[in-house]
Amino acid sequence: MPVPDEVRTRAEALRAEIRRHDHLYHVLDRPEITDAEYDELFRELVSLEEAYPELVTPDSPTQRAGAPPAEEFRPVRHSVPMLSLANCFSTEEFDEWVERVRRILGRDPSGYVCEPKLDGLSVELVYEDGVFVVGSTRGDGRVGEDVTANLRTMKQVPLRLFPHQGRVPALLEVRGEVYMEREAFLRLNEERARRGEPEFANPRNAAAGSLRQLDPSVTATRPLKLFCYHVGRVEGITIESQVQLLRTLPELGLPVNPLWRLCRDRDEVIAFHAQVLTRRAELPYATDGVVVKVDLFAERKVLGEVSRAPRWAIAYKFPAVEAVTRVREIVVQVGRTGTLTPVAVLDPVEVSGVTVARATLHNEDEVRRKDVRVGDWVVVRRAGEVIPEIVRSLPDRRTGEEQGFRMPTRCPSCGGPVTRPEGEVAHRCENVSCPARIKESLRHYASRRAMDIAGLGEKLVDRLVEGGLVRRIPDLYRLRAEDLVEVERMGEKSAHNLLQEIERSKGLPLARLIFALGIRHVGERAAELLAARYPSLEELASAEIEELQETSGIGPQIAQSVVGFFRNEENRRLVEELAVCGVAPRTERPPTGPLAGKAFVFTGTLSAFPRAEAEAIVRSLGGRVASSVSRQVDYVVVGEEPGEKLARARALGIPVLTESEFRALTGR
Ligand code: IVH
Repeated sequence: MPVPDEVRTRAEALRAEIRRHDHLYHVLDRPEITDAEYDELFRELVSLEEAYPELVTPDSPTQRAGAPPAEEFRPVRHSVPMLSLANCFSTEEFDEWVERVRRILGRDPSGYVCEPKLDGLSVELVYEDGVFVVGSTRGDGRVGEDVTANLRTMKQVPLRLFPHQGRVPALLEVRGEVYMEREAFLRLNEERARRGEPEFANPRNAAAGSLRQLDPSVTATRPLKLFCYHVGRVEGITIESQVQLLRTLPELGLPVNPLWRLCRDRDEVIAFHAQVLTRRAELPYATDGVVVKVDLFAERKVLGEVSRAPRWAIAYKFPAVEAVTRVREIVVQVGRTGTLTPVAVLDPVEVSGVTVARATLHNEDEVRRKDVRVGDWVVVRRAGEVIPEIVRSLPDRRTGEEQGFRMPTRCPSCGGPVTRPEGEVAHRCENVSCPARIKESLRHYASRRAMDIAGLGEKLVDRLVEGGLVRRIPDLYRLRAEDLVEVERMGEKSAHNLLQEIERSKGLPLARLIFALGIRHVGERAAELLAARYPSLEELASAEIEELQETSGIGPQIAQSVVGFFRNEENRRLVEELAVCGVAPRTERPPTGPLAGKAFVFTGTLSAFPRAEAEAIVRSLGGRVASSVSRQVDYVVVGEEPGEKLARARALGIPVLTESEFRALTGR
């Protein structure tokens, strides 16, 4: 039968579209459509190709498992291709699969093993004689990316296997899913929001983005987890079924999701599927279905595979949970860095067991793109089963009363001007004393991983700021029990406890204080690196951008942000006031070396070596280099034609060294 033109055109269009989304999803980790929408496109193409087999070309997306690996990582070839799974969405479709299995085997399989389908990133870990040698992502199924170094940072990945029945396998290529639990995902996003970094859209993207990091130390800070569920080549031990596999892997030290079941027949599978669906909300991870696998490997061999997916397994998906509700209003929230975020306030509606009453719209462009108006009926769902989001508006249901959204030109909290910096999607309130920004800064400062001031929760922060008791962070250290009891109607005991907590915060490690300040892009890890390099907040505050960048793990973006933060007059005052209030953080690792803690400034041209080399000498001896002369500087080294720095050094009474004195001091 000839292929009708319109069918050919449609297939072409679908292929182009699917290729684009494959690239966005697999290579860029930046999907534009949801999995359900993608599945729909894919299924349409599959059905066209089934109806007209002559349409199938070798380069059709149906003929391969995924997108090619990104360029930055070394490619790793999988000795056994990593296949994908066929999907089904209903009992009828599942029964068709069961029927096909029966037909090919000529009888019922001995059993099916069911496991929750986790949405993360699939990986392969290769163990030679029990030692972890290579780890890779799936990539296009044949060639993946080498992420060994990143996997090694994951506590769940054993670097050496435990012996099983007295020995380790000579070779084990084990496969599994790297994923992120819901709670961990939400915390990571909260932290990113506080730091002014873009949030991940769902746990899958967070897991993928975290594992596919060129810098393994970044991966190390991410809460990644692993479940193993499959093997490639195995030598030295015998595994003949999925049940045996799932029992053996934990013995070897590899994590396996305990929520699996051996089902004897189709009814038991359907019961398990229903059970996981009801228990879904209690599970720590998001799951979008159940993977059903024929248990015996011998039976799998008979079944074989088609178009890059095995016939012996199927992903029996849960129905996509969406709900329709109305947008009551669109409010604008002000974050710590002044970012304005539009949030839709919805008529409360239940989505997969959770009541959803608000959904972030991220920014003005997003509101435009989705064309969401106040009064609109909208489709909502939870992204990756976690974050409520508006999928689309339903323009057909409009009455004409709906109102379009415009970002306010004045901050809804302080009335200050709102700007949108060049090239950014976010609008910002520029007023550093905006109460909304202050509240967010205080919350971050007091939060568990920052200064950990128990008792200073959301509500209290609101009251302290609104009551005028706290306008800036140092005000916290000036609070008196009387104020709290009087103004906040707090019990004396709670007031006392809070003050004790605030007092205790004064002596926390420097890294915590640096993190607590909420400098953009400075997370816990960067704060630790900075604290290890600089002995005090004052010294960090006077560091120059080049010097910061020399600190390993500190890139130009962080360095720029730190310098920008301390260049701000208000923030410099903050540093001084904190010291005055008695905030004296502990330094973890005091610098060592003969010049430990000494600050040098250079001026003029040196004759024996270039400036950069002289600076390196200072650092190698434990000292540091400042670019401007202040009271914190210990020596000013002068070369030929010194600049104004010399005069300033003299004015401040700072010791001045000639080049030869400097060489004598450093022994060069
Ligand atoms: S078995 C060919 N088991 O689903 C069989 N896969 O859509 C190998 N996945 O690439 C896969 N949970 O990333 C299997 N319990 C599970 C799974 C699972 C999630 C993912 C895996 C795979 C994708 C296929």
